[in-house]
Amino acid sequence: MPGDKSISHRAVMFGALAQGDTIIEGFLRGEDCLSTISAFRALGVKIDEDDHGRVVVHGVGLNGLKEADNIIDIGNSGTTIRLLSGILAGQPFVTFLTGDASIRQRPMGRVLKPLSLMGAQIIGRANHTLAPLAIIGSALSPIVYQSPVASAQVKSAVLLAGLFTDGWTEVQEPSLSRNHTELMLSAFGAEVVQLPKGAKVKGRPILKGQNVMVPGDISSAAYFLVAGAIVANSRIVLKNVGLNPTRTGIIEVLRAMGAKLTIISQWQSGGETLGDLLIESSQLKGTTIAGDIMPTLIDEVPIIAVAAAYAQGITEIRNAEELKVKESNRLETIAIGLRQMGAKIDVLDDGLRIYGGGALHGAHVDSFNDHRIAMSLAVAALAAEGETVIDHFEAVSVSWPDFVQDLARLAGGANE
Ligand code: S3P
Repeated sequence: MPGDKSISHRAVMFGALAQGDTIIEGFLRGEDCLSTISAFRALGVKIDEDDHGRVVVHGVGLNGLKEADNIIDIGNSGTTIRLLSGILAGQPFVTFLTGDASIRQRPMGRVLKPLSLMGAQIIGRANHTLAPLAIIGSALSPIVYQSPVASAQVKSAVLLAGLFTDGWTEVQEPSLSRNHTELMLSAFGAEVVQLPKGAKVKGRPILKGQNVMVPGDISSAAYFLVAGAIVANSRIVLKNVGLNPTRTGIIEVLRAMGAKLTIISQWQSGGETLGDLLIESSQLKGTTIAGDIMPTLIDEVPIIAVAAAYAQGITEIRNAEELKVKESNRLETIAIGLRQMGAKIDVLDDGLRIYGGGALHGAHVDSFNDHRIAMSLAVAALAAEGETVIDHFEAVSVSWPDFVQDLARLAGGANE
């Protein structure tokens, strides 16, 4: 599996803020993570590749970043712009951040609001809710912040700003979101306390460069897990997949749907849990997904919708309003694609109702420039009758540049 996107971003960011070198093995060379590398290069950090293909970040220490001489364009990457905003809010210089058309529509107020409570000065379009952003670095104070959304990007932005304060910064969230920031900051030497729903960090740590082994991304593995379940006579082993419990909602859901999904082995590395997974063709049944599990499968909802379309019975997904503000409005975009392939789906205020059981047929569909919609529809197409054409498929490069080649290895004959 390609390297974990969340962990790849953070390894570059924390490596940049650490003293000494950070060597990253298994770094995801997707466009989003490459945007993080370019951003830190623009901020004066030397980042290169060693003879073994590993990414080496030559850390500049907590106070070593330099003002960029131009606007930084972070492309499609929400994690880059939101986490960087937290890091840059406390710097003694000004930064301008922008991104692509999707990023410029995504909510930034959720990050700017807590950062401004800490003393940050950030200006954005639409009354400081949209990028481009101008970040005028300022002295920050620690806060205790009650986040209205369970978002690891919001939590991480505030915790990272907290590194540049004297004292403890705490974030509480409605449900626990992915905790890679907390685990990795702690591995780099920061004092971090994990809370049942949130975390706190002590300011001005000395971070030390580390060797980071990036696990395979469970959000990418999810496409092959569903492919293995819905395509007849499949048996797929996925190795080295990150199984951090804040990310494994997909495993719980597929099992609840009756998938033959086995964790063949499991181990720990760098504070993270990893494992090898086996998936076999399965007769799936509908299920209900709601509540605290939602942040643990937030990026997997489109591919779960595909599994649900091939399952017997109704699947209902609730408390998923965050899907509306991802790279596309994923409740709408996955429903449009799957309907074109013959599925029956209701888009609800906060989720989806999918009526399973109908066989899908090939169709001409669109990714809406969203990598996860492109890959979900490709998996739906594998088990559909006839040919499917997916427009704007190149969006997959954001998180899985070799998706087509890897899928072809499974499908034995697929081509570009
Ligand atoms: C991410 C957090 C999630 C997720 C995104 C990556 C991260 O976003 O959807 O793909 O690396 O922190 P939210 O925190 O906005 O839910």
